[in-house]
Amino acid sequence: MTPPTLDSLDWLRPNLLGSTKMVGVMGWPVEHSVSPPMHNAAFRHLGLDWAYVPLAVRPAEMPEAVAGLRALGFIGANATVPHKRMLYDLVDELTPAARAIGAANTLHIRPKGLLGHNTDAAGFQRALREADMPPEGRHALVLGAGGAARAVVYALATSAASVTILNRTPEKAEVLADAMSAAPASASIEAGPLDRKTLSRYATRADLVVNTTPLGMWPQVERSPWPQDLPYPREASCYDLVYNPRQTQLLRQAQAAGAAISDGLGMLVHQGTEAFELWTQQPAPVEVMRAACEAVLET
Ligand code: ATR
Repeated sequence: MTPPTLDSLDWLRPNLLGSTKMVGVMGWPVEHSVSPPMHNAAFRHLGLDWAYVPLAVRPAEMPEAVAGLRALGFIGANATVPHKRMLYDLVDELTPAARAIGAANTLHIRPKGLLGHNTDAAGFQRALREADMPPEGRHALVLGAGGAARAVVYALATSAASVTILNRTPEKAEVLADAMSAAPASASIEAGPLDRKTLSRYATRADLVVNTTPLGMWPQVERSPWPQDLPYPREASCYDLVYNPRQTQLLRQAQAAGAAISDGLGMLVHQGTEAFELWTQQPAPVEVMRAACEAVLET
Protein backbone atom coordinates (compact mmCIF):
# COMPACT_ATOMS: atom_id res chain seq x y z
CA MET A 1 0.00 0.00 0.00
CA THR A 2 1.39 3.40 -0.96
CA PRO A 3 0.62 6.32 1.37
CA PRO A 4 -2.54 8.14 0.23
CA THR A 5 -2.10 11.52 -1.40
CA LEU A 6 -3.93 14.55 -0.04
CA ASP A 7 -5.26 15.40 -3.50
CA SER A 8 -7.12 12.10 -3.76
CA LEU A 9 -8.43 12.28 -0.20
CA ASP A 10 -9.21 15.97 0.16
CA TRP A 11 -12.60 15.23 1.75
CA LEU A 12 -10.86 13.57 4.72
CA ARG A 13 -8.65 16.50 5.73
CA PRO A 14 -9.16 18.18 9.10
CA ASN A 15 -10.10 21.84 9.43
CA LEU A 16 -8.06 23.46 12.17
CA LEU A 17 -9.34 26.46 14.13
CA GLY A 18 -8.20 27.98 17.43
CA SER A 19 -11.06 26.20 19.16
CA THR A 20 -10.42 22.78 17.59
CA LYS A 21 -10.31 19.82 19.97
CA MET A 22 -7.31 17.64 19.22
CA VAL A 23 -6.77 13.87 19.17
CA GLY A 24 -4.24 11.81 17.26
CA VAL A 25 -2.35 8.57 16.84
CA MET A 26 1.10 7.87 18.25
CA GLY A 27 3.05 5.40 16.15
CA TRP A 28 6.56 4.60 14.94
CA PRO A 29 6.13 4.52 12.02
CA VAL A 30 2.76 6.25 11.67
CA GLU A 31 2.71 7.11 7.95
CA HIS A 32 0.48 4.21 6.95
CA SER A 33 -2.14 4.71 9.66
CA VAL A 34 -5.69 4.95 8.33
CA SER A 35 -6.92 6.42 11.61
CA PRO A 36 -6.44 10.13 10.71
CA PRO A 37 -8.67 9.99 7.61
CA MET A 38 -11.15 7.68 9.37
CA HIS A 39 -11.67 9.99 12.35
CA ASN A 40 -11.47 13.24 10.38
CA ALA A 41 -14.18 11.97 8.04
CA ALA A 42 -16.37 11.28 11.09
CA PHE A 43 -15.73 14.73 12.61
CA ARG A 44 -16.50 16.42 9.32
CA HIS A 45 -19.65 14.37 8.79
CA LEU A 46 -21.02 15.32 12.23
CA GLY A 47 -19.84 18.94 11.97
CA LEU A 48 -17.63 18.54 15.06
CA ASP A 49 -14.80 21.03 15.63
CA TRP A 50 -12.29 18.24 16.23
CA ALA A 51 -9.16 17.11 14.39
CA TYR A 52 -7.14 13.88 14.43
CA VAL A 53 -3.45 14.13 13.62
CA PRO A 54 -0.60 11.62 13.07
CA LEU A 55 2.04 11.78 15.80
CA ALA A 56 5.39 10.15 14.98
CA VAL A 57 6.76 9.24 18.40
CA ARG A 58 10.02 7.35 18.95
CA PRO A 59 9.46 4.50 21.43
CA ALA A 60 11.98 5.95 23.90
CA GLU A 61 10.11 9.26 23.87
CA MET A 62 6.65 7.95 24.79
CA PRO A 63 6.70 9.36 28.35
CA GLU A 64 7.51 12.86 27.06
CA ALA A 65 4.97 12.51 24.25
CA VAL A 66 2.11 11.53 26.58
CA ALA A 67 2.98 14.32 29.04
CA GLY A 68 3.18 16.68 26.06
CA LEU A 69 -0.27 15.74 24.78
CA ARG A 70 -1.68 16.49 28.21
CA ALA A 71 0.15 19.83 28.36
CA LEU A 72 -1.09 20.72 24.87
CA GLY A 73 -4.71 20.11 25.81
CA PHE A 74 -5.32 17.03 23.66
CA ILE A 75 -8.50 15.10 24.52
CA GLY A 76 -6.85 11.77 23.80
CA ALA A 77 -4.87 9.63 21.39
CA ASN A 78 -4.51 6.19 19.96
CA ALA A 79 -1.30 4.19 20.22
CA THR A 80 -0.24 1.68 17.58
CA VAL A 81 2.47 -0.95 17.69
CA PRO A 82 5.02 -0.65 19.30
CA HIS A 83 3.50 1.84 21.78
CA LYS A 84 0.55 -0.06 23.24
CA ARG A 85 2.44 -1.66 26.10
CA MET A 86 4.22 1.59 26.94
CA LEU A 87 0.95 3.53 27.04
CA TYR A 88 -0.38 0.89 29.44
CA ASP A 89 2.46 1.75 31.82
CA LEU A 90 2.05 5.52 31.52
CA VAL A 91 -1.60 6.07 32.48
CA ASP A 92 -3.18 6.69 35.91
CA GLU A 93 -6.05 4.26 35.41
CA LEU A 94 -6.84 1.31 33.14
CA THR A 95 -10.17 -0.05 31.94
CA PRO A 96 -10.77 -3.75 32.71
CA ALA A 97 -10.15 -4.63 29.05
CA ALA A 98 -6.80 -2.82 28.90
CA ARG A 99 -5.73 -4.37 32.19
CA ALA A 100 -6.62 -7.92 31.10
CA ILE A 101 -5.06 -7.54 27.64
CA GLY A 102 -1.94 -5.92 29.07
CA ALA A 103 -1.90 -3.15 26.47
CA ALA A 104 -3.65 0.18 25.86
CA ASN A 105 -4.37 1.43 22.34
CA THR A 106 -6.45 4.41 23.46
CA LEU A 107 -5.69 7.28 25.81
CA HIS A 108 -8.37 9.53 27.27
CA ILE A 109 -6.98 12.66 28.90
CA ARG A 110 -9.43 13.73 31.59
CA PRO A 111 -9.14 16.43 34.27
CA LYS A 112 -8.84 13.72 36.92
CA GLY A 113 -6.07 11.83 35.12
CA LEU A 114 -5.04 9.65 32.20
CA LEU A 115 -7.27 6.69 31.34
CA GLY A 116 -5.85 3.82 29.27
CA HIS A 117 -8.36 1.72 27.32
CA ASN A 118 -8.11 -1.08 24.78
CA THR A 119 -10.69 -0.77 22.01
CA ASP A 120 -9.38 -3.74 19.99
CA ALA A 121 -11.42 -6.26 22.00
CA ALA A 122 -14.73 -4.38 21.84
CA GLY A 123 -13.96 -3.50 18.22
CA PHE A 124 -13.57 -7.20 17.44
CA GLN A 125 -16.84 -8.01 19.24
CA ARG A 126 -18.69 -5.37 17.22
CA ALA A 127 -17.11 -6.64 14.01
CA LEU A 128 -18.16 -10.24 14.76
CA ARG A 129 -21.75 -9.16 15.35
CA GLU A 130 -21.78 -7.09 12.18
CA ALA A 131 -20.48 -10.14 10.25
CA ASP A 132 -23.28 -12.24 11.77
CA MET A 133 -20.78 -14.43 13.64
CA PRO A 134 -22.03 -14.20 17.23
CA PRO A 135 -19.44 -15.85 19.53
CA GLU A 136 -21.67 -16.69 22.50
CA GLY A 137 -21.55 -20.38 23.35
CA ARG A 138 -19.41 -21.13 20.29
CA HIS A 139 -16.05 -22.83 20.02
CA ALA A 140 -13.41 -20.56 18.52
CA LEU A 141 -9.99 -21.50 17.15
CA VAL A 142 -7.59 -18.56 17.45
CA LEU A 143 -4.51 -18.84 15.23
CA GLY A 144 -1.54 -16.97 16.70
CA ALA A 145 -0.73 -15.77 20.21
CA GLY A 146 0.78 -12.29 19.78
CA GLY A 147 -0.56 -8.87 20.72
CA ALA A 148 -3.60 -8.99 18.44
CA ALA A 149 -4.50 -12.47 19.74
CA ARG A 150 -4.59 -11.16 23.31
CA ALA A 151 -7.40 -8.74 22.45
CA VAL A 152 -9.23 -11.37 20.39
CA VAL A 153 -9.06 -14.04 23.11
CA TYR A 154 -10.21 -11.55 25.75
CA ALA A 155 -13.14 -10.53 23.52
CA LEU A 156 -14.13 -14.17 22.93
CA ALA A 157 -13.71 -15.24 26.55
CA THR A 158 -15.83 -12.34 27.82
CA SER A 159 -18.47 -13.29 25.21
CA ALA A 160 -18.73 -16.78 26.70
CA ALA A 161 -17.08 -18.55 23.78
CA SER A 162 -14.78 -21.46 24.48
CA VAL A 163 -11.40 -20.82 22.92
CA THR A 164 -8.49 -22.89 21.64
CA ILE A 165 -5.34 -20.90 20.91
CA LEU A 166 -2.97 -22.52 18.40
CA ASN A 167 0.45 -20.99 17.87
CA ARG A 168 3.69 -21.80 16.05
CA THR A 169 5.40 -21.41 19.43
CA PRO A 170 2.96 -23.40 21.62
CA GLU A 171 4.48 -22.11 24.88
CA LYS A 172 3.24 -18.62 24.00
CA ALA A 173 -0.26 -19.98 23.43
CA GLU A 174 -0.14 -21.60 26.87
CA VAL A 175 1.00 -18.39 28.55
CA LEU A 176 -1.85 -16.50 26.85
CA ALA A 177 -4.41 -19.16 27.80
CA ASP A 178 -3.30 -18.97 31.44
CA ALA A 179 -3.41 -15.18 31.44
CA MET A 180 -6.89 -15.04 29.91
CA SER A 181 -8.45 -17.78 32.02
CA ALA A 182 -9.17 -15.14 34.65
CA ALA A 183 -11.21 -13.02 32.20
CA PRO A 184 -14.75 -12.41 33.45
CA ALA A 185 -17.35 -14.90 32.21
CA SER A 186 -14.70 -16.94 30.48
CA ALA A 187 -15.50 -20.42 29.27
CA SER A 188 -12.64 -22.87 28.78
CA ILE A 189 -9.41 -21.70 27.13
CA GLU A 190 -7.01 -24.31 25.76
CA ALA A 191 -3.70 -24.03 23.96
CA GLY A 192 -1.77 -26.08 21.41
CA PRO A 193 0.64 -25.99 18.49
CA LEU A 194 -0.34 -24.49 15.13
CA ASP A 195 0.31 -27.57 13.02
CA ARG A 196 -1.59 -29.77 10.59
CA LYS A 197 -2.32 -32.53 13.09
CA THR A 198 -3.78 -30.22 15.71
CA LEU A 199 -5.77 -28.20 13.18
CA SER A 200 -7.34 -31.35 11.74
CA ARG A 201 -8.24 -32.53 15.28
CA TYR A 202 -10.02 -29.27 16.14
CA ALA A 203 -11.47 -28.55 12.69
CA THR A 204 -14.52 -30.74 13.20
CA ARG A 205 -15.67 -28.94 16.36
CA ALA A 206 -14.81 -25.32 15.52
CA ASP A 207 -17.63 -22.83 14.92
CA LEU A 208 -15.28 -19.93 14.29
CA VAL A 209 -11.65 -19.62 13.11
CA VAL A 210 -9.84 -16.32 13.74
CA ASN A 211 -6.49 -15.57 12.11
CA THR A 212 -4.33 -13.19 14.14
CA THR A 213 -1.02 -14.09 12.44
CA PRO A 214 0.48 -12.00 9.62
CA LEU A 215 0.24 -14.96 7.21
CA GLY A 216 -1.69 -13.66 4.19
CA MET A 217 -0.92 -10.01 4.96
CA TRP A 218 1.07 -8.01 2.42
CA PRO A 219 3.80 -8.97 1.48
CA GLN A 220 3.06 -12.59 2.52
CA VAL A 221 -0.06 -12.64 0.35
CA GLU A 222 0.30 -16.23 -0.88
CA ARG A 223 0.61 -17.69 2.62
CA SER A 224 -2.08 -19.09 4.88
CA PRO A 225 -2.08 -20.49 8.42
CA TRP A 226 -4.40 -23.25 7.16
CA PRO A 227 -2.56 -26.04 5.20
CA GLN A 228 -3.62 -26.20 1.54
CA ASP A 229 -4.18 -29.96 1.72
CA LEU A 230 -6.39 -29.84 4.83
CA PRO A 231 -10.08 -29.32 4.04
CA TYR A 232 -11.42 -26.18 5.71
CA PRO A 233 -14.51 -27.00 7.82
CA ARG A 234 -17.63 -25.67 6.10
CA GLU A 235 -19.41 -25.08 9.43
CA ALA A 236 -16.68 -22.79 10.81
CA SER A 237 -17.03 -19.09 10.09
CA CYS A 238 -13.67 -17.50 9.27
CA TYR A 239 -12.61 -14.07 10.57
CA ASP A 240 -9.23 -12.88 9.30
CA LEU A 241 -7.82 -9.82 11.09
CA VAL A 242 -5.82 -9.00 7.96
CA TYR A 243 -7.26 -6.12 5.88
CA ASN A 244 -4.34 -5.57 3.52
CA PRO A 245 -5.22 -7.30 1.24
CA ARG A 246 -8.88 -7.81 2.16
CA GLN A 247 -9.16 -11.12 0.31
CA THR A 248 -6.54 -13.40 1.89
CA GLN A 249 -5.56 -16.91 0.96
CA LEU A 250 -7.22 -18.20 4.16
CA LEU A 251 -10.49 -16.46 3.28
CA ARG A 252 -10.35 -17.97 -0.22
CA GLN A 253 -9.94 -21.44 1.32
CA ALA A 254 -12.85 -20.88 3.72
CA GLN A 255 -15.07 -19.41 1.02
CA ALA A 256 -14.32 -22.31 -1.34
CA ALA A 257 -15.44 -24.68 1.43
CA GLY A 258 -18.74 -22.79 1.73
CA ALA A 259 -17.99 -21.16 5.10
CA ALA A 260 -19.00 -17.62 6.08
CA ILE A 261 -16.05 -15.21 5.88
CA SER A 262 -15.07 -11.74 7.04
CA ASP A 263 -11.93 -9.67 6.47
CA GLY A 264 -10.34 -7.47 9.15
CA LEU A 265 -11.79 -4.15 8.01
CA GLY A 266 -14.66 -4.36 10.52
CA MET A 267 -12.29 -4.68 13.48
CA LEU A 268 -10.16 -1.82 12.15
CA VAL A 269 -13.23 0.40 11.83
CA HIS A 270 -14.73 -0.57 15.19
CA GLN A 271 -11.58 -0.15 17.25
CA GLY A 272 -11.90 3.38 15.86
CA THR A 273 -15.64 3.81 16.55
CA GLU A 274 -15.06 2.72 20.17
CA ALA A 275 -12.31 5.32 20.64
CA PHE A 276 -14.41 8.00 18.90
CA GLU A 277 -17.31 7.36 21.27
CA LEU A 278 -15.07 7.38 24.34
CA TRP A 279 -13.66 10.82 23.41
CA THR A 280 -16.73 12.55 21.96
CA GLN A 281 -19.42 10.81 24.03
CA GLN A 282 -21.59 10.47 20.95
CA PRO A 283 -22.39 7.64 18.54
CA ALA A 284 -19.82 7.19 15.80
CA PRO A 285 -20.92 7.43 12.14
CA VAL A 286 -19.86 3.87 11.37
CA GLU A 287 -20.52 3.88 7.64
CA VAL A 288 -18.67 7.17 7.13
CA MET A 289 -15.66 5.78 8.97
CA ARG A 290 -15.78 2.55 6.99
CA ALA A 291 -15.98 4.42 3.69
CA ALA A 292 -12.97 6.53 4.68
CA CYS A 293 -10.94 3.40 5.49
CA GLU A 294 -11.93 1.81 2.21
CA ALA A 295 -10.98 4.95 0.29
CA VAL A 296 -7.53 4.97 1.88
CA LEU A 297 -6.93 1.23 1.49
CA GLU A 298 -7.94 1.39 -2.17
CA THR A 299 -5.46 4.16 -3.08
P1 ATR B 1 0.68 -8.83 16.65
O1 ATR B 1 1.00 -7.92 17.79
O2 ATR B 1 0.23 -8.11 15.41
O3 ATR B 1 -0.25 -9.92 17.04
P2 ATR B 1 3.04 -10.39 17.05
O4 ATR B 1 2.96 -10.10 18.50
O5 ATR B 1 4.35 -10.29 16.36
O6 ATR B 1 2.07 -9.47 16.22
O7 ATR B 1 2.42 -11.85 16.82
C1 ATR B 1 2.44 -12.45 15.62
C2 ATR B 1 1.83 -13.87 15.78
O8 ATR B 1 1.83 -14.48 14.51
C3 ATR B 1 2.60 -14.75 16.72
O9 ATR B 1 1.71 -15.62 17.35
C4 ATR B 1 3.51 -15.52 15.77
O10 ATR B 1 3.90 -16.80 16.20
P3 ATR B 1 5.17 -17.00 17.20
O11 ATR B 1 4.66 -16.70 18.58
O12 ATR B 1 5.57 -18.42 17.03
O13 ATR B 1 6.23 -16.02 16.74
C5 ATR B 1 2.60 -15.66 14.58
N1 ATR B 1 3.39 -15.81 13.35
C6 ATR B 1 4.17 -14.89 12.77
N2 ATR B 1 4.74 -15.38 11.65
C7 ATR B 1 4.30 -16.67 11.55
C8 ATR B 1 4.54 -17.73 10.63
N3 ATR B 1 5.34 -17.55 9.56
N4 ATR B 1 3.93 -18.92 10.83
C9 ATR B 1 3.14 -19.11 11.91
N5 ATR B 1 2.86 -18.14 12.82
C10 ATR B 1 3.45 -16.95 12.64
